[in-house]
Amino acid sequence: MSDATIATPLTALVGVRHPIVQTGMGWVAGPRLVSAAAHAGALGILASATMDVDRLRSAVREVRSRTDAPFGVNLRADAGDAAERVRIIIDEGVKVASFALAPSRELIARLKDAGVVVIPSIGARRHAEKVAAWGADAVLVQGGEGGGHTGGVATTVLLPQVVDAVDIPVIAAGGFHDGRGLVAALSYGAAGVAMGTRFLLTSDSTVPEAVKARYLAAAVGDVTVTTKVDGLPHRMLRTELVDALERSGRTASLLRAVRHAAAFRRESGMSWPRMVRDGLAMKHGKELTWSQVLLAANTPMMLKASMVDGRTDLGVMASGQVAGLIDDLPSCAELVDRIMAEATTALRALPRPH
Ligand SMILES: Cc1cc2nc3c(=O)[nH]c(=O)nc-3n(C[C@H](O)[C@H](O)[C@H](O)COP(=O)(O)O)c2cc1C
Repeated sequence: MSDATIATPLTALVGVRHPIVQTGMGWVAGPRLVSAAAHAGALGILASATMDVDRLRSAVREVRSRTDAPFGVNLRADAGDAAERVRIIIDEGVKVASFALAPSRELIARLKDAGVVVIPSIGARRHAEKVAAWGADAVLVQGGEGGGHTGGVATTVLLPQVVDAVDIPVIAAGGFHDGRGLVAALSYGAAGVAMGTRFLLTSDSTVPEAVKARYLAAAVGDVTVTTKVDGLPHRMLRTELVDALERSGRTASLLRAVRHAAAFRRESGMSWPRMVRDGLAMKHGKELTWSQVLLAANTPMMLKASMVDGRTDLGVMASGQVAGLIDDLPSCAELVDRIMAEATTALRALPRPH
């Protein structure tokens, strides 16, 4: 294990050895990946939106049984059972709560009162300002090159904008994979980097080998953004399925969404009334049409088809552009050590002012 480390407000805030975060990726960031990342000295984050509450509790316990290092749980603030999930985080002594969408002021206060560090993910300056005013401890800001749901502004523009706007630690995400990127983020004023695609492509990730091979083979130009999966801009590998979705009409999309909503209900252990309540909450929160609400069920099921079942023909492979730069599958320990060694070298090699 490398001795190189860089202390930042992030390492101080959550007690990790290195200013590196492994993000909560649906179906990907399970107990094995999270405990390996945490053990390597990064902040590992469990993805919980694709788990029912019992599975979340057992996943948290599994991580704890494998490592004493701090870790986090990513959840959706708008889920009908968010309060139950928050209770699990508090009861089980999880160090960090990470949110895909801005949590309410009340939820932040409840977690903070219990000593949990709250880190929402945001994609725009005004969202960062809002959650900072509500008491978030740090924000994770994702630039447009990042994988999964993503915005249109590049990390190099969004990151300094957010760093200037808030007084809490800012974690940079979108496009990071090595030690140079970490140094670049620190020079923008970030407290660390968060990586999704890079951690998906490790030997500790449970993603099927055939799927990892598709990512490794991808060039930067093979990563695209589509709104055809769930109506929101979603960055993923461009495949025949994605091309077909791009061509497909509204009726075909809705029929697919109905099938996926039924399957997601079974997977998540949700009742139909709860699905409808969650749908209503989503609809009112964002002024969506019912068809958009229905389409939201596509994402978890199409991600599962590839990330769990290995069906690259039926599933989508969410990915950052950085997949085009990655061509190996190190363990989390090797990856984190390598990044810290590269960062140390990059810092030493910087030209000094006279
Ligand atoms: C396969 C995959 C699944 C993802 N699922 C989620 C998710 O469930 N919740 C979330 O907040 N972000 C999710 N993301 C986004 C990542 O957490 C992270 O912010 C993003 O990957 C950072 O960009 P990078 O891929 O360039 O490192 C996902 C990303 C990928 C690649």
